[in-house]
Amino acid sequence: MKHVLDITDLSIEEIDSLIATAMDIIKDKEKYQDICKRKKLATLFFEPSTRTRLSFEAAMLELGGSVIGFSSASSSSSSKGESVSDTVKVVGYYADIIAMRHPKEGAPMAATAVSDVPIINAGDGGHHHPTQTLADLLTIHREKGRFNNLTVGFCGDLKFGRTVHSLVNALSRYTGIKLVFISPDELKIPQYIKTDIIEKTGMPYVETRTMESVMPELDILYMTRVQGERFFNEADYIRLRDYYILTPDKLENAKKDLCIMHPLPRVNEIARSIDKDPRACYFKQVENGKYMRMALIMMLLGGA
Ligand code: NCD
Repeated sequence: MKHVLDITDLSIEEIDSLIATAMDIIKDKEKYQDICKRKKLATLFFEPSTRTRLSFEAAMLELGGSVIGFSSASSSSSSKGESVSDTVKVVGYYADIIAMRHPKEGAPMAATAVSDVPIINAGDGGHHHPTQTLADLLTIHREKGRFNNLTVGFCGDLKFGRTVHSLVNALSRYTGIKLVFISPDELKIPQYIKTDIIEKTGMPYVETRTMESVMPELDILYMTRVQGERFFNEADYIRLRDYYILTPDKLENAKKDLCIMHPLPRVNEIARSIDKDPRACYFKQVENGKYMRMALIMMLLGGA
């Protein structure tokens, strides 16, 4: 039995195979409509979500399976003081696979110690979010056709943005990747990501405060929301939340085939007028996320 807590729980070959399955699903959805018949997915979301939870649920329904779960800690027995371990143990009697989101870093990992069914980390605090990374990788594959030789800019909240941490980790396994981190000083990429991932693999990176100066180099611009819920101080959040707003003028010197990504939800970081720019890929990420979750559920249930 395999759990997916971190993107490196999947080998490069497994990621390639998930991408191949997702591409096949896109071609022939009907072929997959009964693959998870009589299987149940439980979505245990102790923290808010729109895309990730509904995408997992839609993925399971499109595979012919069914879905149970809760969408907030307050509607589960966690509000009565039940531990995550007990909740997961119990849910293992009802479901064949669990997707779990929790505000505490490491909670899904702790859950694996007691779980009798595969657990997928659907986001743990400011730590990891491997299935968003699968959505991002399929988007990069479809837009760029490669994972090597790309200059990837990450902009915004690089400190708390778990999707950034997971994607940097994923990219560190490919060659010719150059990273450009664009953030205010307070929201820089954490030191442990630099030490444990970037410096270990020798990926070149730069850190800057302005997006205009680096824009012409970028193949991918990954925008992020300032993660207000992880701040200790409301005043800091208010000061930093609109630090970067991507507007059409900022794209004047950008590559014609730049791929603009964002895990969503968007607050103010990308002007609505950019949505019709052919370089905007953030709604494609949403669609791709569902296909990759379908492929992942099948793999973990032994169906692919
Ligand atoms: C992200 C998350 O939850 O980390 N959202 C998502 O799953 N697509 C990004 C965010 O909340 O800013």
